[in-house]
This record gives sequence, C-alpha cells and structure tokens, in this order.
Amino acid sequence: MEKLRIQGGHMLSGKVRVGGAKNAALPELAATLLTDEPVRLTNVPAVRDVATIIRLLEHLGVQIERDANGTHSRLCAFNGTEAPYDLVKTMRASFLVLGPLLVRTGRARVSLPGGCAIGARPVDQHLSALTQLGANLRVEKGYVIAEAQRLNGSEVTFSSPTVGGTEHLMLAASLAQGTTVLRNAACEPEVADLAILLNLMGARIEGAGSDTIEIRGVSELGGADHKILPDRIEAGTYLVAGALKGDRLEIANCRPAHLEAVINKVQEIGANIEPGDGSLCISASTDYRASNTRTEPHPGFPTDMQAQYMTLMTQAVGTATVTETIFENRFMHVPELNRMGADITIDGHSAIVRGPRQLGGARVMATDLRASASLVLAGLVAEGETIIDRLYHLDRGYESLVEKLGAAGAKVERFRE
Ligand code: EPZ
Repeated sequence: MEKLRIQGGHMLSGKVRVGGAKNAALPELAATLLTDEPVRLTNVPAVRDVATIIRLLEHLGVQIERDANGTHSRLCAFNGTEAPYDLVKTMRASFLVLGPLLVRTGRARVSLPGGCAIGARPVDQHLSALTQLGANLRVEKGYVIAEAQRLNGSEVTFSSPTVGGTEHLMLAASLAQGTTVLRNAACEPEVADLAILLNLMGARIEGAGSDTIEIRGVSELGGADHKILPDRIEAGTYLVAGALKGDRLEIANCRPAHLEAVINKVQEIGANIEPGDGSLCISASTDYRASNTRTEPHPGFPTDMQAQYMTLMTQAVGTATVTETIFENRFMHVPELNRMGADITIDGHSAIVRGPRQLGGARVMATDLRASASLVLAGLVAEGETIIDRLYHLDRGYESLVEKLGAAGAKVERFRE
C-alpha cells in the first residue's frame, strides 16, 4: 500500500500548474456514447476516476486512445448496454452512462452507485427526471433496468440542485424528441463546460451555468474537439497550500472567476491574493482571522473545498464554524486533524475550529478525496513528519500532486511500506 511522507515547515514558491477538471471530464467522457463520430478531449486529468470511467466506456464499446494530443474517443458499436456494479461502485459518476445508453439503444442496465464515505448520495432525482422524459425504470438486485422507445422532452424541476442530475438530464435530453427545460438546475462551471461540448457535438442547449437550462432535442450528435476547463477545486486546494506556506506561490492555468467564493473567503481572513490572467499568486500570512463558512451550491462556497478550508482555520486566530450543507457525513478529516493537534469539535452539520494551533506530524488515514487533501495541507504546515495512508483516495482527483508540491519546495514523497 502506497503512503505519503511529508516533512512539514517548508515554504512553497514558484508555479503550480492546474490540470483539467475531473468533475467535467467524467460527464464529458460519458457524452462520447452519444455519437458514433470521434470526440477529442484535451486537458483530461490523469486521475483514477477518469481511468475508471474510461474502463467502463471501453467495456461498452467506446475505443479510447490517449496521447500527447489528448484523449480520443470513438464509439464503434455498442458492446452491450450494461454498466457493472464493480465499475459503478468505485466511481459513482459512472451512473451517468445510463441516460446516453437509454437514448441511443432504448435500453440500459446500470448498477445503482450506492453510497460512499461522505454520504448516502441517492440518485432519486436522476431517476424521477428520466421517468418524466418517458423512461420505464425499475430497480432489480441493485441495478436500474431502463427501457424507452424514445425519450420525450419535458419540464423538470429538481427539488434541490444536483450536479450529476443536471448533467445526466442534459446528456439524455440532447437526443430526446422535443424540448426539455431543467429548473433549479445546478450552476457549477462543470455543467456549463459539458454544455459547451454537447453544443459542439450539435446539441442545442441554452442557459447552462444558470438554474434554468433549455435543451432542444436533435436527432443525432456528431464528433467534437474540446479542451476541458481547469479544475477549480485543484486550484483552490493549492491556493490554501499557498495561504499556509506560500512565498509568492503562483497557481497557474486556473480561472479565478470559478473560485470567487473561495478567493473572497481567503481574502476575508487576511490573505493577500494577487489575481492574474488565468492565475493566482499568494503568500502565507501569520495572522489570519477565523471566519465562519457554510457550503452552498455554486456560486456559494464549494463543499469540495470544506475540508481544505478547515485545515486553514486551524492556523487562524479565533473560532470558526464550518457548516456542511450538501453532504451528511463530510467531516471524516476532523478526527485525523485533531490527532495532529487541531482543536475541532463537531456539532451536527457544523464543525467548530479553535485556532491557532501548532500542528504536529502524525500517521493519519485518508478517508475520502477531499479529506485526504486536507491532511496533505496539514502535513505541509505541521512540525515534523506526517505519514498519510490510503493514498488511493487522493489519486482519485489530484494528478501529480507529489511532483507539483515537490517542485514548489515541499518535502513530500510516496513510498511503499
Ligand atoms: C458532484 O457530485 C461532484 N462529483 C462532487 O465532487 C461534488 O461534491 C458535488 O457534485 C456537489 O458539488 C462529480 O461531479 C463527479 P449532487 P454529485 O448530485 O453530482 C443529493 C469531489 O470531491 N442528491 O450535486 O453526486 C446528494 O446526496 C466530488 O470531486 C439526492 O438526494 O452531487 C447530495 O447531498 C465529491 N438525490 C446533494 O444532493 C439525487 O438524485 C448534492 O449532490 C442527487 C443528489
């Protein structure tokens, strides 16, 4: 089992380049099922979740090659319409292949994704919306069995914003008969980026990125060539690293506009961030003021930055309340941070962080993707050596993290015990 060893206390400087957004690459790779023509995606991050959905797409008949010029996909012929449990359970966004399989072949048998560490994460909104478009769905032995002669456009109002549900319906409705309107849709930048790809393929989608999206169905979609947008959560993670240990650390190839809530919050506590053209520059400060935050759907403070922000609050003067409103169990980094000397107590959906606290290196365990990022950040600022176990969580969403941090001056290495 690979582990991470971090010697804390080293400053970070120079340039960290942000990669393509994992949470855009996943639905956009699923979109390759919607056409028989070649689709080239560039800026696709080399992370485990992308490798997992590529395995599933190849299982379904998509030929995918990756080279220096990008990721080239071409669906030659469907090789069945089933997405097996062992692939969907490890990476829940695989569930998004259901709509494309259904709208192209009239049938699909896709494993329910099941829960994950951070919560139950049901897909009821996906299923009820697809039913509204005319899908016949039933659940048997943990699989969704879907059939539909064709899908018909409809007005769908989500009971609460769902990123995956919005993306799933955009994928399916692109080839439905007639017009679909999604209301209370998710506004995340990754949703807007998926719409850019689908429109390049010939779809007719308007309003993506807002809470109302109109999709006028077309009879078929063609190929496209699209560069995936930068990963705002990777950028935010390195921004926090810079807030903790930066010495003019530059986060390059990012879109500050997609990180406004995080940038505003880090500035509010006292950080000096210099936004550039597609980059951010930050140096650590020693007198941050604690500030409360609560996670919200975009453009609010992103749940995927909650754990990283909590690590930053351990270094701020005062008490910060961090409230998680999106997932029901996204505080698993708290006990591990406390083992490093943090003083965090959980009260329902809120965590109370008292700072500043000098963190000390320790052996800690990653429990989910963003929790593991918060432990890396804690290791950078802790005294002594931190060992992080279960690195596969980190590898799901951070490409070349050791190389990027190492090049900026961190003392971090992977090793096998
Ligand atoms: C996406 O997950 C992201 N994953 C998550 O990032 C992110 O945390 C989340 O959106 C919220 O921003 C990808 O894009 C691959 P949701 P998703 O549907 O689509 C509930 C990371 O760290 N819900 O917006 O699964 C759900 O349980 C990952 O990169 C239903 O109840 O999130 C959650 O409480 C973690 N029924 C809330 O809505 C449904 O049918 C938001 O979920 C769908 C969702």
